[in-house]
Amino acid sequence: MIQEIKEHILNVEKAAISTAEDAEQLRIKYLGKKGILPQLFKSFKSVPVEEKKSFGQALNELKQMVESKTIKNKAVKGTNSAQEQLDLTRPGVTNNSGNIHPLSSVKEEIVDIFKRIGFSVSEGPELEDDWHNFSALNFPEEHPARDMQDTFFVEKDPDWALRTHTSSVQVRVMENEKPPIRTISPGRVFRNEAISARAHCIFHQIEGLYIDEGVSFADMKQTILYFAQEFFGKDAKIRLRPSYFPFTEPSAEVDVYWGLENEVDYRITKGTGWLEIMGCGMVDPEVLRSSNIDPEKYSGFAFGMGIERIAMNRYQIPDLRYFFENDIRFLRQFA
Ligand code: PHE
Repeated sequence: MIQEIKEHILNVEKAAISTAEDAEQLRIKYLGKKGILPQLFKSFKSVPVEEKKSFGQALNELKQMVESKTIKNKAVKGTNSAQEQLDLTRPGVTNNSGNIHPLSSVKEEIVDIFKRIGFSVSEGPELEDDWHNFSALNFPEEHPARDMQDTFFVEKDPDWALRTHTSSVQVRVMENEKPPIRTISPGRVFRNEAISARAHCIFHQIEGLYIDEGVSFADMKQTILYFAQEFFGKDAKIRLRPSYFPFTEPSAEVDVYWGLENEVDYRITKGTGWLEIMGCGMVDPEVLRSSNIDPEKYSGFAFGMGIERIAMNRYQIPDLRYFFENDIRFLRQFA
């Protein structure tokens, strides 16, 4: 019997296998239900005790031989020749890796610039009550200033709305912390506006707040100039135009000088060379009082900018809607 097994081993070793089909044939012949190996295993019972050990070893050797011959050829299933097996010099399959969304990277860059001069980052809820989004910011009830920001109301009485700006977060900071306060609040905001290339009902802001003793308009101007030069380049120039916000007095709109060299510059700056980047102003004493901060002792400034606006200018993106469509062809350009 053992002699018989040894012959099988030799045969299997010599068997020429060049296709998956050959391998399958060999497998069926030896390992199939009615194959040679199951038959041999059956006869194991009748082998004399003193031969059982060497018989068993020989059987296992045969089994492994068949397995290694056939398994090796599984890898070439579907191909026809042994030469086509594995080409180890082929480049591997690479993993697809994602990239950071342009809005996130612009946000991070702005946050970084303010962190370097001691601003902390604060966040708050997107669903806000009337107090934090409006009343505490000196928007009197029924005052037309509320129409400046078309609001998505979620519930009336008590009033819940999607925040229209992240100034609401700053109210929360003023309520919970004592001056000096130096914080920026990045976040998503919502306004009930028709969607177009230049406006969306969802966008992102970064608002800043600085409150301490003796904070002046000059401090604000210098802080914004520092930001503009860090973000737009060392030679950036800014100008302030008078404006109105209920929560700041005086208020201003900040423009950065963009230049007027080509057609794109004309379009982006509407022919003026200046690009509007944010609103700002000295925090209205009424707002400080609402949050129990003594306006006789403290003063402060606030500013707020839209991240989409700034990202559009930086990357020359003509349509704001691209940011929200998650079209991979658009996003890949920022890898
Ligand atoms: N909260 C204002 C807006 O969303 C921006 C702003 C912030 C203006 C702070 C002045 C001061 O339009």
